[in-house]
Amino acid sequence: MAYSQQALKEQVAKAAVEYILPLLSPTAVVGVGTGSTADLFIDELAKHKQQFKAAVASSERSAKRLADHGILVLDLNEVESMPVYVDGADEINAQLQMIKGGGGALTREKMVASVAERFVCIVDESKLVERLGAFKLPIEVLPMAINSVSRQIEKLGGVARQRVGFITDNGNPIIDVEGFSVEDARELESTINQIPGVVCCGFFALSPATIMIIGTQEGVKQLSH
Ligand code: A5P
Repeated sequence: MAYSQQALKEQVAKAAVEYILPLLSPTAVVGVGTGSTADLFIDELAKHKQQFKAAVASSERSAKRLADHGILVLDLNEVESMPVYVDGADEINAQLQMIKGGGGALTREKMVASVAERFVCIVDESKLVERLGAFKLPIEVLPMAINSVSRQIEKLGGVARQRVGFITDNGNPIIDVEGFSVEDARELESTINQIPGVVCCGFFALSPATIMIIGTQEGVKQLSH
């Protein structure tokens, strides 16, 4: 019998907690991502809440879920280092480069991940791709820059559309971009980062994950470099 996508997500959430437990201590702060896989990770992590001090969340949604479990949630400004950040992805390749932001939390995700020593990416096998770019690339922009950024994106070969009815936790709109031919995600991430008005783009290629934990029909696998 084949595992459902939900079952694979549950398996990786459990495997991620097993992976991070040896990294925890009574003073440790855990970085926590956003999304349906991250939600399952939070639920598993809560079973071990006596083994670490607190968490930093990459969204209001995850902060609430953590707090509902009785886990102390700290602001990123209160934290100097974290042993680990755990989050899902919309796409990930064999170099552990990702597209993230389907849930719109990309900016806080990138910030929290940048403070952690390791990024543990937890995905079911549907997220694994040879080349990034089939998933529309989310870009958080300042409100007055929606059109100017979209025009620059079109010059780079993408088609940008504002995500309708959506505002990030930071109060900004998101544009979703399709049509990029992504040969070098690092270069494209760097180019997009330099467009005035861009807050954050959903490529996580300049700083890829440290390890990927993948739920597959053949069991949970790990890939790191
Ligand atoms: C949130 O902004 C995203 O980056 C999520 O981490 C990503 O979309 C994965 O979400 P799921 O685990 O729900 O697929």
